[in-house]
Amino acid sequence: MSAPERPPGSARAEQWRRRRQQQDRATRVAAACFLVAIVAALALFGVYLAGGQTQAEGVLLAVAFGAVGLGLAVWVRQIIGAREVVEDRYPMRSRQQERDDFEAAYEEALGEAGDGGRRRFLLRLLGGAGASLGLALVLPFRSLGPTPEGELFHTAWRDGVRLAAEGGGLVMATDVSPDEVLTVFPEDAIGDPSAQALLVGTREGELDVDALPGETVEGMVCYSKICTHAGCPVGLYRAAVGELICPCHQSVFDVNDAARVLSGPTGRPLPQLPIGVDDDGHVIALGDFSEPVGPSFWNLHHDRPEPRA
Ligand code: FES
Repeated sequence: MSAPERPPGSARAEQWRRRRQQQDRATRVAAACFLVAIVAALALFGVYLAGGQTQAEGVLLAVAFGAVGLGLAVWVRQIIGAREVVEDRYPMRSRQQERDDFEAAYEEALGEAGDGGRRRFLLRLLGGAGASLGLALVLPFRSLGPTPEGELFHTAWRDGVRLAAEGGGLVMATDVSPDEVLTVFPEDAIGDPSAQALLVGTREGELDVDALPGETVEGMVCYSKICTHAGCPVGLYRAAVGELICPCHQSVFDVNDAARVLSGPTGRPLPQLPIGVDDDGHVIALGDFSEPVGPSFWNLHHDRPEPRA
């Protein structure tokens, strides 16, 4: 990469020669920076594929970007040169020695450009650093995991499934008294977090059945237990006023009015689970929740996709 030795000439030639040496040094520094960036980016890729280590990935990413930035800074300041140079006017026609120097420098520059000179060399390394970093930047997409498909829209509830308490006991219609709250699951999916529901015993004449999106059993109503704000379990019930309260950010839902939001940061009611009673007196589900459970997402009200087989 270094320029060939030139015979001593005028002061201008000596100045030119020092400048060339300085540029050669800067070229080596910039090239080293880009190589460091490539190694760091590839190491980041390797660490990620080996299972990931957050601190190491952060350090490697910082080193890669820092090295690219340093390399570009050296390139711009030391090689391209951003300084404004003012020179006193001198006779328009150059002396013969200067003309010869210029001609030699020009031909040498042409030669470098023709056989893969400094600029091409650094551009290739910079391209390599960019490509390596680009490889690292696609890694977060791999961490997004599989497409959820139907999981966001469906739970384990389906028509005919009996309601079971947390301990596994099936819930009879006669078990539910006014003001009582039971956490229930599908009998075949006890503990399934997305299926957890609250079966609330209502006071006589207070539940607005017409406001509910699905069927219910007299004296009780069932809602998803997962808060529609950020997904906390709705764990508090103020029986005197028929309000379910989420302890995380104090969203309040009206049990007797289809879990309408009374206050708090959430934007939609708790989905209702349609329920009935079978011939043996067990409380059963008549289908899935009225809406997807938990926090809202952008296509919440699109047609429900089929559950994954
Ligand atoms: S998660 Fe329930 S109010 Fe925020």
